[in-house]
Amino acid sequence: MAVLPIRKYGDDVLRKPAEPVTEFDESLQKLINDMVETMYAAPGVGLAANQVGISKRLMLIDLSVGKRPGELHVIINPEIIETQGEITDEEGCLSIPDFVEVVTRPERVKLRYIDRNGEEREMWGEGLMARAMCHEVDHLNGTLFVDRLRGLKRDRILKKIQKLAKSGMWF
Ligand code: NI
Repeated sequence: MAVLPIRKYGDDVLRKPAEPVTEFDESLQKLINDMVETMYAAPGVGLAANQVGISKRLMLIDLSVGKRPGELHVIINPEIIETQGEITDEEGCLSIPDFVEVVTRPERVKLRYIDRNGEEREMWGEGLMARAMCHEVDHLNGTLFVDRLRGLKRDRILKKIQKLAKSGMWF
C-alpha cells in the first residue's frame, strides 16, 4: 500500500467529471487500498479517486477515520436516489486545506452504489454521513464544496483560496 499525493484546488483533474468504473480487477483493489491508506494518513473522513488524480467514480467514507472496524465504505458508481430534509453545518475538504465553511446539504441521503466486490447496494446516510456522501459525489462530478457557497462570502473565500493556491504553499 502507498500514501498517494492529494490533488489540491486548481488541479484540473478535480474539475473533470469522473468516468464510471467498469473493471473490478486487481488494479482497482490496489487503488482502493492506496486510497484508504491516503485517507487515514491525511487524516480525512472521505476521499474521491479524482483527489488522487484518478478520474474514476470511486469514493471512500469512514467517519471513524479507521478507528472503528466496519465503518469504511467503499462506494463505486454512486447515485443519489433520494434525499430528505436540509441541514446547515461546517464542511472542509482535503483538496482545500485549512478552509472550513458552512454549507447546506440534505439531512438524509439514499445512495445506490456498487461495493468493491461488484455487488449492488443501497444505503441511507444521516447527518455527517449524508454530508460526506454529497460532498464526495460532488467531487466525482467535478464540484468542490466552495462552489456551493453563495454571494459575497463565496467571492471572498475564492479570492483567498486562489491566492494561496498560486503561492504554491499547497504543492
Ligand atoms: Ni473533499
